[in-house]
Amino acid sequence: MAAAIIDGKAFAARLRARVAAAVPAFADAAGRVPGLAVVLVGDDPASAVYVRAKARMTAEAGMAGFEHRLPAATDQAALLDLVRRLNADPAVDGILVQLPLPGHVDEAAVIAAIDPAKDVDGFTPENAGRLATGLPGFVPCTPLGCLMLLKDRLGDLAGLDAVVIGRSNIVGKPMARLLLAESCTVTVAHSRTRDLPAAIGRADIVVAAVGRPAMVQAAWLKPGATVIDVGINRIDAGDGRTMLVGDVDPAAADVAGAITPVPGGVGPMTIAVLLRNTLVAAHRRAGIPLADATL
Ligand code: GUN
Repeated sequence: MAAAIIDGKAFAARLRARVAAAVPAFADAAGRVPGLAVVLVGDDPASAVYVRAKARMTAEAGMAGFEHRLPAATDQAALLDLVRRLNADPAVDGILVQLPLPGHVDEAAVIAAIDPAKDVDGFTPENAGRLATGLPGFVPCTPLGCLMLLKDRLGDLAGLDAVVIGRSNIVGKPMARLLLAESCTVTVAHSRTRDLPAAIGRADIVVAAVGRPAMVQAAWLKPGATVIDVGINRIDAGDGRTMLVGDVDPAAADVAGAITPVPGGVGPMTIAVLLRNTLVAAHRRAGIPLADATL
């Protein structure tokens, strides 16, 4: 039987609508709208696409956007100086430094300079530690979006076997911690894993975040598994154009119980969760309770 398609695009649109609906009450209470600062260094084309989409959706949610585009040659000290100014700016609730940064910049040092209360990406050591130890904080947007889709589909996740493929700080590690907090039995697989098909074959939940086109084969999946494909890979379509494909073989739709498409699955969730995190940061910073418990 063909898998159900998990419509992340529609879920993300509903989440953005709930965020937008909560902005006027915050503005009434705080005397300002939530503000998100985005820092883009250099001219990586994929990053530029994301930053444009972030700016548009921030405005559509009724929030203030502050965009800082810096040349690729920007040095570490200038970047740290900008982060410190954004930390001190009362109109800024969320700070996002678009990754990857150019090679001459110490990415870890820049991330660590962000005020954890404004770290809507959840990348600072403070927020990563909070997630790891079960304290409230900010959780990276892509894995939190994946968790929202999984809970929407499956309800209670307790006791389920989950495999996360990939161990990045942006997706794999926080995803594993979120699934553990939901009482899943979690395996984190990566490039050195000896028997990936065996690990995947046991899993009720598969989250693929490796960045390799169609590397997860349909035949490896347990029939009925729920598959979350985080991959966004641009490949040559053969006719001179490029196409987007995920980390999971499209034939997985014949084996899985439910699967996210690429595009239109996980991708749209990231910005929707970013806006949600910014709204939450604004409320926490202003000491105003958030009325919508679903956010
Ligand atoms: N690069 C790829 N994904 C992300 C993300 O979620 N946040 C930031 N800041 N950079 C990224």
